[in-house]
Amino acid sequence: MNPSLIDSAVAYIHTLFSGNSDGHDAEHSLRVYHNAIRIAASYPEADREIIALSSLLHDADDHKLFHTENNANARRFLTEHHICANEIEQIIEIIESISFSKNRDKKPSTLEGMIVQDADRLDAIGAIGIARTFAFGGRHDRSLQSSVDHFYEKLLLLKDMMHTPAARELAEGRHAMMVQFLEALDHETKE
Ligand code: ADP
Ligand code: NI
Repeated sequence: MNPSLIDSAVAYIHTLFSGNSDGHDAEHSLRVYHNAIRIAASYPEADREIIALSSLLHDADDHKLFHTENNANARRFLTEHHICANEIEQIIEIIESISFSKNRDKKPSTLEGMIVQDADRLDAIGAIGIARTFAFGGRHDRSLQSSVDHFYEKLLLLKDMMHTPAARELAEGRHAMMVQFLEALDHETKE
C-alpha cells in the first residue's frame, strides 16, 4: 500500500468535511480507518488499500452532508489518484453497502466490506458511541430521552451484528461500557 495515497485521502476528507461539520466527520472517518486496520490484522489475505480507501471515503458522499450523485466525491479522489476501474467499483460497492440506515439487512459481499462495516459500527458504540450520540442529539435539538432511546433501538444491537470475530471481541468491552452507562443514568435519574 502506498503511504502517500493514504496521506492524500486523509487530506482530502479534511478538506471535504471542513465546510460541512466542523471537522467531526473527518475524525470519525479516521477512527473507522484505524479500527479497520486493527481488525484486518487478523486477516492477512485482506486487501489493505481497499480497506483504507473505503473507510476513509465511506462518508464522503453522505446524503446528510453532501448533495452528490453516484458517489461523486469518492470517485473524484479515486480517479484523480489513478486507482484502476475495477478497484474503484469494489470500493464504491463497500461504501454503498455499509450504511446502517440505508441497508439495515445488507451484508457486504467481500471480506474487506465486512471489515469496514464492522469498523464503522465499532465507532458507534462504547465511550465514543455515547459521546457521538449525545452530540448528534444536541445538534438536532433532540431530548436526552430520545438519545437514550437510540441506544435501545440501534446501538445495543450492534455487538451481535459484527461479521468478524476480531471486531466482535473489540465490541464486547465497548458494549459493556454502554450497558454500565445506561444503568448509571437510570440510577441517577430514577424518581
Ligand atoms: P454512520 O454514518 O457513521 O454509520 P450515522 O450518520 O447514522 O453514523 O450517525 C452518526 C452518529 O449519530 C452515530 O454515532 C449515531 O449513533 C448517532 N445517531 C444517529 N441517529 C441518531 C438518533 N436518532 N439519535 C441519537 N443519535 C443518533
Ligand atoms: Ni460512518
